[in-house]
Amino acid sequence: MDRFKQEGFLAESFINDFIENKKQTWINKLIQGDSLKVLESLLDIYEEKIDLIYIDPPFFSRKKHYYKIFIGDPKRSLKKLAYNDLWNKGLDSYLDFLYKRLYVMKKFLSPKGSIYVHLDHHASHYVKILLDELFGDENFRNEIIWHYPAASAQTKNFFVRSFDSIFFYSKGEDYIFNDNPHLYMDYSDRVTNALQKDEKGYFYYRGGSHNGKKLSRKVYIERKGVFPRDVWTEIPYIRANTMEYQGFSTQKPERLLKRIILASSNKDSIIADFFCGSGTSITVAEKLGRKWIGCDINWHSINIIKKRLLSLQNSNDILDWDKNYDKISRPFKIMYFDDIKKKQSIPSQFLKEGKHNPSKGALDRPKLEVKVNQKNNKIQVKIDNYNPSYTQMLREKVQNKFNSWKDYIDYISIDFDSPSNQFSPDWIDFRTPKKREITLNSGWYQPENKNSLNIEIKILDIFGSESNMIYKINL
Ligand SMILES: C[S@@+](CC[C@H](N)C(=O)[O-])C[C@H]1O[C@@H](n2cnc3c(N)ncnc32)[C@H](O)[C@@H]1O
Repeated sequence: MDRFKQEGFLAESFINDFIENKKQTWINKLIQGDSLKVLESLLDIYEEKIDLIYIDPPFFSRKKHYYKIFIGDPKRSLKKLAYNDLWNKGLDSYLDFLYKRLYVMKKFLSPKGSIYVHLDHHASHYVKILLDELFGDENFRNEIIWHYPAASAQTKNFFVRSFDSIFFYSKGEDYIFNDNPHLYMDYSDRVTNALQKDEKGYFYYRGGSHNGKKLSRKVYIERKGVFPRDVWTEIPYIRANTMEYQGFSTQKPERLLKRIILASSNKDSIIADFFCGSGTSITVAEKLGRKWIGCDINWHSINIIKKRLLSLQNSNDILDWDKNYDKISRPFKIMYFDDIKKKQSIPSQFLKEGKHNPSKGALDRPKLEVKVNQKNNKIQVKIDNYNPSYTQMLREKVQNKFNSWKDYIDYISIDFDSPSNQFSPDWIDFRTPKKREITLNSGWYQPENKNSLNIEIKILDIFGSESNMIYKINL
């Protein structure tokens, strides 16, 4: 597929540049950083401007959570840590972490805004008390129970846990809450099984008195379903065979976010998620045409989300699930805190015993070789070799997963005319869970009235090491 200028990704920059310039023109933003730092930095610009915040933070599960790194074609993968949810200092430290962030989030909410906080049995009861204190119990609107029916039964010592709680608070009395048929729930099986059609094609069921008399009254229904109750039972958990699957273990379903976003935001609303993981909330916000801000501390999350947004055409249409979404993402910008954008490490679980951990800074830059072809005033870049210095340090079991140097490459982006320190790609290709192969020859780029070009090539490998090369050519 020719990915020239088709995609919405604009540029990468540091968040400080954005804050200093206080740019008001809207651009969707994906920010890598600790949510508290990001919140504090953006407060000046977005105080009372955000209509909807959804967060799905760590749950105090006292577990590690993983995602899959997909390697080449045919299917091979490695399991990598996405985030720690261990909290060795106990519940207090978890509640303190969350409270500090919720406290600032409240200031972001517009007078008509709302917040949804997604949790489960581990800490939801404690967090509810924090939320009551912060947002006022008079603004508590719902505890939504998302019941996922196919929960795997790992215990017979207690009842199988099969739901999450989502607390919904509004900022005040007068808040956005839409009645939209797209957020309706299906009728229960009991109703649908009892449905009959009349001679004009309208559906009805037999209703009437329950005191032993015959149910004779025709109760007509509209086919769009019922206005949602606070127990959501029809949204399944993510499975690997679905289009939305990103290989991120705590990924939430797009249809869950669809209902929340349609109910609690309007077309011109700004939506924010400060723990966005694999980017479900912002993907749905994008498909529904909302403005969005996403933040995650993990650099890999940002990469997963970037790729998810850039391949939206291979996802479900959020308003008509059985169809493909046929649009590309609008432009978005990726921002980093200066102190956070550092070279990625290879996790020790993938390394040979006794090898030093490259995270300590000893990792050499990978070797990248490219060839630039010129034909009929057009230019093409060909990746000829990519040789990461860490391959010999990998465990044999891990090394055996790789068939060639190509398998290490996850993402290629090329800025054919890179004038400044701002990288703005013209051509991109990458792997996704559903598209495992990567193209090593770029499309042909046509320069406009130039004598020379600075071509910048960036490679991101599957462990997160980034290499770039600037190639100057005369035309
Ligand atoms: C439960 S996951 C979110 C999953 C997401 N809703 C989805 O559908 O993919 C929680 C996320 O919070 C992120 N996180 C943890 N601590 C953070 C912090 N201090 N600041 C920002 N993000 C953080 C983790 O990296 C993880 O991606």
